[in-house]
Amino acid sequence: MLYIGVDLGTSAVKLLLMEGNGAIKKIVSKEYPLYFPNPGWSEQKPEDWWTQVIAGIKELTTECDKSQVAGISFGGQMHGLVILDENDNVIRPAILWNDGRTQKETDYLNNVIGTKKLAEYTANIAFAGFTAPKILWVKANEPDNFAKIKKIMLPKDYIAYKLSGTFCTDVSDASGMLLLDVKNRKWSPEMLEICGITEAQLPKLFESYETVGTLKADIAAELGFGTSVKIVAGAGDNAAAAVGTGTVGDGMCNISLGTSGTVFISSKNFSENDNNAIHFFDHADGTYHLMGCMLSAASCNKWFMDEILKTKDYAGEQKDITEDMLGNNKVYFLPYLMGERSPHNNPDARGTFIGMSMDTSREDMTLAVLEGVAFGLRDSVEVARKLGIKLERTKICGGGAKSPLWKKIIANVMNMKVDVIESEEGPALGGAMLAAVANGEYASVEEAAAKLVKIIDTVEPDPAIAARYEEQYKKFVQIYPALKDIYTLIK
Ligand code: XUL
Repeated sequence: MLYIGVDLGTSAVKLLLMEGNGAIKKIVSKEYPLYFPNPGWSEQKPEDWWTQVIAGIKELTTECDKSQVAGISFGGQMHGLVILDENDNVIRPAILWNDGRTQKETDYLNNVIGTKKLAEYTANIAFAGFTAPKILWVKANEPDNFAKIKKIMLPKDYIAYKLSGTFCTDVSDASGMLLLDVKNRKWSPEMLEICGITEAQLPKLFESYETVGTLKADIAAELGFGTSVKIVAGAGDNAAAAVGTGTVGDGMCNISLGTSGTVFISSKNFSENDNNAIHFFDHADGTYHLMGCMLSAASCNKWFMDEILKTKDYAGEQKDITEDMLGNNKVYFLPYLMGERSPHNNPDARGTFIGMSMDTSREDMTLAVLEGVAFGLRDSVEVARKLGIKLERTKICGGGAKSPLWKKIIANVMNMKVDVIESEEGPALGGAMLAAVANGEYASVEEAAAKLVKIIDTVEPDPAIAARYEEQYKKFVQIYPALKDIYTLIK
């Protein structure tokens, strides 16, 4: 049988067609626009996602035997607020995970309701990109829109709804709404009351590997599929990527270098997390995970290449960066182009180069961008290490993982072994694997990961380079506190 994994990303949707035995038959990518209507705001139109998902599925399946397609599932960009009215029309553009407009609402939740209560209700505290502060923002700033809300959902759930007619979400993605009681995998009545919404406005909760329904007859006819195709709940993109890289079980780590950058650590058991600087969410395999998220990762390199150097030759820009330059750069880059989530929780932070002199080269600045992202991810690794989690190796996925240089920098900045997987298409592959599990090809997500995920290389840290980066990281962590007030001043 065949399975489709849909990775509903921020710059594009990636679709992957997989055979039941894990062989990847085809990958298709379709872009859609991203809107920044005000500084720090970030929106997309759910209708654009839908158009491109349908176009993508058609292109993905042109050459295959369509009667063999048995399941579709998802990895979706997390936290985005999608609201529908009584006629199922989208009320306003979706407010995305990297949108920083909700500082006031985030402060209200953390300071007035209080982080202690939030952690008790949800196992997390409020961050500007989470869904609950966005609901409060719509309530305060667009009361007419708020009054029209009949359904609240996350980005991938809009696609599942259009495909199956089931108003659903999964617990991994729902964890990022700050409305879920993560420990007990159910909606938090206290959080619903705080946000002024009811459970009827929220989707039905599923585990990521559960079937929510089958393909609607009209969509099946349009795609040329049968109506028995199962639509499977899927996961937030990071949990889906963790499935696709085999980051299941206890204490496994995956680093994603996508538009965002994340450090994802699987955890069999629920545990309290002292300061909540990193998130504690449900995992797609029925367990839990910790996650640190930086808002701009591969997007920092994309910005520096596309907008500043005006080139598409990313590999060409990296080819003259020699090994002796690693850990010796005098230039530092703070990767906060969209503000920062983990661990600073500051929408006002901004990207910053510091340390340039007359002999600074193009390569030094390119390297500083790659290193700045690695240092930012190390901030989350440090939070995890302080919680007593031992991290010696990690998987890696996302567009940035295509760069051998960036993988080497990550291995040395973290002083961790980096395991490279056959396919870096984490979320799309994870989505297809979840669909396969729901169809009984594998007994569990853990079994699918054990059978399907292949490590093809390991990048080992080099003691000399890792030692140089250790010294540099000590300097990096001092730059943000020195600039914090300046970011507010120049806002
Ligand atoms: C995770 C997060 C991002 C988005 C990117 O908390 O906000 O990784 O899911 O799509």
